Amino acid sequence: MNGAEIVIGKDILELLSSAMYVDTLTVYREYVQNAADALAASVEAGLPPDPAEPQVAVTIDPGARTVRIRDTGTGVPADAFVARMTAIGASPKRGTAARGFRGVGRLAGLAYCRELTFRSRTAAGEPVLEIRWDCAKLKSLLRSTEYAAGLPQFVADIVDLSEAADPARYPDRFFEVEMGGIIRHRNDAILDAGTVSEYLSQVAPVPFSAEFTLGAEIDAFLRRHTAPGAIEIRVNGGEPLVRPHRDAFEADDGKPDAFTDVEFKELPGQDGGVAAVGWLLHHGYRGAIPNAALVKGLRFRSGDIQVGGHNLAEDLFPEPRFNSWTVGEIHVLDPRILPNGRRDNYQESVHLRNLRNHLSPIGRDIAKRCRTSSARRKWLREFELYETVAKEKMAILAQGTLGEVARNAMEAEVERSISPMAKIAAMEDLAAEAEARLWPKLEELRRELNTLADRTESPMARLPAEKRAMYEHLFELVYDCSTNRVAAKALVDRIMLKIL
Ligand SMILES: Nc1ncnc2c1ncn2[C@@H]1O[C@H](COP(=O)(O)OP(=O)(O)OP(=O)(O)O)[C@@H](O)[C@H]1O
Ligand SMILES: [Mg+2]
Repeated sequence: MNGAEIVIGKDILELLSSAMYVDTLTVYREYVQNAADALAASVEAGLPPDPAEPQVAVTIDPGARTVRIRDTGTGVPADAFVARMTAIGASPKRGTAARGFRGVGRLAGLAYCRELTFRSRTAAGEPVLEIRWDCAKLKSLLRSTEYAAGLPQFVADIVDLSEAADPARYPDRFFEVEMGGIIRHRNDAILDAGTVSEYLSQVAPVPFSAEFTLGAEIDAFLRRHTAPGAIEIRVNGGEPLVRPHRDAFEADDGKPDAFTDVEFKELPGQDGGVAAVGWLLHHGYRGAIPNAALVKGLRFRSGDIQVGGHNLAEDLFPEPRFNSWTVGEIHVLDPRILPNGRRDNYQESVHLRNLRNHLSPIGRDIAKRCRTSSARRKWLREFELYETVAKEKMAILAQGTLGEVARNAMEAEVERSISPMAKIAAMEDLAAEAEARLWPKLEELRRELNTLADRTESPMARLPAEKRAMYEHLFELVYDCSTNRVAAKALVDRIMLKIL
């Protein structure tokens, strides 16, 4: 067959320029991915870093409705610029260690702006080449019924090559993409520097925060298997972005919680080797991690860039809700486990299925921790309830206002509160709390009860025997008839002040 007879219509671009990405913020992920690849290549090639420029600078101008993402990686050589910037597919990265491989990611911006411009040069003094995709023209030609050019002519008709007017304004070696005339979209998240920073702090290959103590340990573990990115990304000239993990967070119930330890995983491949590595942060498992912490869910990364959102792994858990109690990351290493075109999930394959099989015990283990933690908190609450009752009753005993029979009965009641407390303290799941808090509390209670039981003197001894018996009877009635033990004791305290 003769290839010249095969028609590839313009419509293929429709897929890239409209339906492809659901979340507008994903354009940042695509451009940061390209920047990360170019920076890694520049290190590989021994090119010196630019001391005057951040590695990646994101500039958002909501007034002008423009976004620019500039990096000081390799840049694109002039003789390859046109071909690289107009190609659709045919990525030169395929088969390399780079993150990109489809050759379409840089077109992600087409759907969201009127003009998509790429600029680059590779050395000082060179002209800055500029290719502009006219997205408005692209859309109108796509709609046109008369326009019937094939794909190459179509691209030629909507792109424009030129030289930037003032090359001195640009870094010596750089690549940048500029989205101009950004189209209004729901909440305009794409133009909100705060939202973009939060998004990139989660998905981009930026370092852990210095305020996250376990970060260094995780980094050291990851470095044994892969090269976690630590690129400098500044949004509108702000501080370099860091990952969102911190030592402490506010649990779902509003109480403070903290990440106490980290667990590492190596997940074997189908035919030996390591398919992925992972880390999990353990905490109090009091409930779902709040969205605002930006770390919720077992997340996946390839080339240290997040694939999909925080819900990707939900079905690995016996109950999907336990994913949101989880904080952890799986770094996929096996080059045969590939992100899909939208990078919102991985492509199905035996290697992916094998990985998922190895991950399901993690889901089960976390579900168990969540359930155990709920049960533990329930028992601890119960322990505290018994403790409160025992203490209230001992406070009444300490008052010395009860007759002997009532006092013996009250002592027996205290015993009856203490014995279930001992049962709770003996529970295996509560061993740590029991040793630290529960047994010492129980001992204290028992000691106090013994002291109270041994005590013979009473403030009532000052009263004549008959009066004393009368008051003791009255107080017993107060305690018997009252629905509130603490209020009853306060009443008895006040009466005592009057009669003694
Ligand atoms: N920031 C950059 N610096 C240098 N070259 C770049 C940069 N961005 C894109 N390129 C060049 O343009 C090519 C196409 O980029 P594009 O994002 O479309 O595809 P890709 O990264 O190769 O694959 P994918 O579609 O998986 O992202 C890249 O392969 C690279 O050669
Ligand atoms: Mg790319």
